[in-house]
Amino acid sequence: MGPAFMFSPPADWHPCAPLQALRLEWLAAAGVEVAVLRLDCIDALISGNKWFKLSEHLAAADQVNAAGVISLGGAHSNHLHALAAAGQRFGFATAGLLRGHAQDTPTVLDLKAWGMHLHWLGYGGYRARHDADFWQPWQARYPGFYPVPEGGGGLAGARGCRVLRQQVSQQLAALGWGDFDGWWLACGTGTTLAGLVLAEQGARTVHGALAVPAGHGVAQQVAAILRAAGAHDHGYALIDASRGGFARVDEALLAFIDAAEQASGLLLEPLYTGKALLALQQAVAAGRFARGTRLVFVHTGGLQGRRGIAMATGG
Ligand SMILES: Cc1ncc(COP(=O)(O)O)c(C=O)c1O
Repeated sequence: MGPAFMFSPPADWHPCAPLQALRLEWLAAAGVEVAVLRLDCIDALISGNKWFKLSEHLAAADQVNAAGVISLGGAHSNHLHALAAAGQRFGFATAGLLRGHAQDTPTVLDLKAWGMHLHWLGYGGYRARHDADFWQPWQARYPGFYPVPEGGGGLAGARGCRVLRQQVSQQLAALGWGDFDGWWLACGTGTTLAGLVLAEQGARTVHGALAVPAGHGVAQQVAAILRAAGAHDHGYALIDASRGGFARVDEALLAFIDAAEQASGLLLEPLYTGKALLALQQAVAAGRFARGTRLVFVHTGGLQGRRGIAMATGG
């Protein structure tokens, strides 16, 4: 018998995201106040919403005494990055199934350095991930490894994000806010949004800026998570922020990010947080929020992926 694996982080590891005022001219002009919940700051390596989405999956792996954790993602995956970093930090084995053909992106180099076992599935092989028998050969190859769905999704992923509401509540007074009116965040699968909706139970609206175009099933996935939790399907709004396609980056977006970064000091990446902030600016410009509205913008992290994006766009 080898040593017992530790999926739960040590009792004193409770990463809390700082809540910081965001000062931008277009917000001040509209009388809308925004504070950013900095999930990008919780840890040097285990960053963003990915940690919160993983936390309940890891607790479940712990419960069944798993031998390791296996999951899937792309060559720039923030999810695999956080999982590999957690495995290295807390001493459990990890395996990653990757979309496409072998390549050494900065993300993949980190996964290798942190000891994740990697397998490239090609594109067709990756598309089969929803098939009923997909996991069988991998479970034979990695006996006892706990499978975590792509992106750390599902009800367990959402449950891990509920704690964010508490983290905001604890920091409101320091910000000089008595209360706030709603949330604004980027959505890929909608899991993080669903976690906030579960935490709010309709008290505040959670606005999801979609990084993927309509038709990618985010609304259905959010509804399915809420149904699985026995919660009502309300308390949120989905806004198209994809600018014509996931991972599609245009000049106007890059110029907006550059200006926002220079004015606020907040670093963004183009695919999720940059598009989400631009969609917020457009909503504010369209008069969607009354003067005096206070919103929490969740910085979902993903800055590690910027390295690969910068290469791909020549930036
Ligand atoms: C940086 C970043 N922000 C937001 C998201 C979207 O999160 P979710 O899939 O929970 O909607 C992701 C991943 O999908 C991400 O990597």
